[in-house]
Amino acid sequence: MRETASAADLLGWYDRHARTMPWRVGPAQRRAGERPDPYRIWLSEVMLQQTTVAAVTTYFNRFIARWPAVADLAAAEDADVMGEWAGLGYYARARNLLKCARAVVADHGGQFPQDHATLLTLPGIGPYTAAAISAIAFDAPETVVDGNVERVMARLHDIHTPLPAAKPLLVAAATALTPVRRPGDYAQAVMDLGATICTPRSPACGICPWRAPCAARLAGTAADLPKKTPKRPKPTRYGTAYVAQRSDGAILLERRAETGLLGGMLGWPGSDWTEAVPTPAPPLDAAWQVLNEEARHTFTHFHLRLRIEVAQVGMEAAPHRGDFIALDRFQPGQLPTVMRKVFDLARPTLAGPD
Ligand code: ADE
Repeated sequence: MRETASAADLLGWYDRHARTMPWRVGPAQRRAGERPDPYRIWLSEVMLQQTTVAAVTTYFNRFIARWPAVADLAAAEDADVMGEWAGLGYYARARNLLKCARAVVADHGGQFPQDHATLLTLPGIGPYTAAAISAIAFDAPETVVDGNVERVMARLHDIHTPLPAAKPLLVAAATALTPVRRPGDYAQAVMDLGATICTPRSPACGICPWRAPCAARLAGTAADLPKKTPKRPKPTRYGTAYVAQRSDGAILLERRAETGLLGGMLGWPGSDWTEAVPTPAPPLDAAWQVLNEEARHTFTHFHLRLRIEVAQVGMEAAPHRGDFIALDRFQPGQLPTVMRKVFDLARPTLAGPD
């Protein structure tokens, strides 16, 4: 008979191998009575939905240095928060981040609620984030299921049903294993296991604390799991971005509408992005020059190919979109990645400080 997996085996491993993260209260610190800051757990979990722990660490440290508590973030200017988020992607998350901080201050006295149901009422907090905050910050017996946890459970039980259909099975498997003691450490332990040992390719089964009970290891199928239903290929959309520079060096940028893709972010005026050839939409009349190279970027649902047009214009230029920003006030780091790519390609044609 195969051994059954136990949370205790995983927690023992976590006690020895927990990764260090700036927001994390490790097992030894927890035993010494330290408690995580719910604001930091929330911020890190929202950021971790975008990218890896390594990439998040830089953003997280910058946010915390600038806004050390939820009340500081709630009082921030929208444009400053969008600027610090630039590069992380999925900008609706940053807008919801601000809304959530403001709701915590306005409706909850500046304290994050502890229970899953109340957390779910906050902007931008879905089932994953609610469970993560509740378990990790408050040690409530909630089950946290991200891609790492799905992979670990699919392998532990040798589940071949493809995702996303397998999701309920995987959630049930993770729930059954969640302990009453240390559910927060358990949640972090499964995610650490998925990130460091039970990795998508070449899992290190030999050193896994769950090697004995793992059904996929026994069957030799670990590296093939989880199965995934193939995604439909992404369509390609086309557009034009316009980079205008005035004779004093200032460049023309616009703040995008609050709603929609890259909402609230700074960008170059441009055409719509469409699968058919887009209608040109220059923000002012000028002798526009087309760059040889286009900017390419992939969003969740489509690939984008942006033609770049640049122009030098006089002081009398009166654009019908956007505002001229002095070069010394412009921080390229505040642009979302696709707009940053346009800037990097246009930069050799621009005059002024580099
Ligand atoms: N990935 C997302 N959240 C995580 C966490 N709290 N610990 C480890 N990996 C994670």
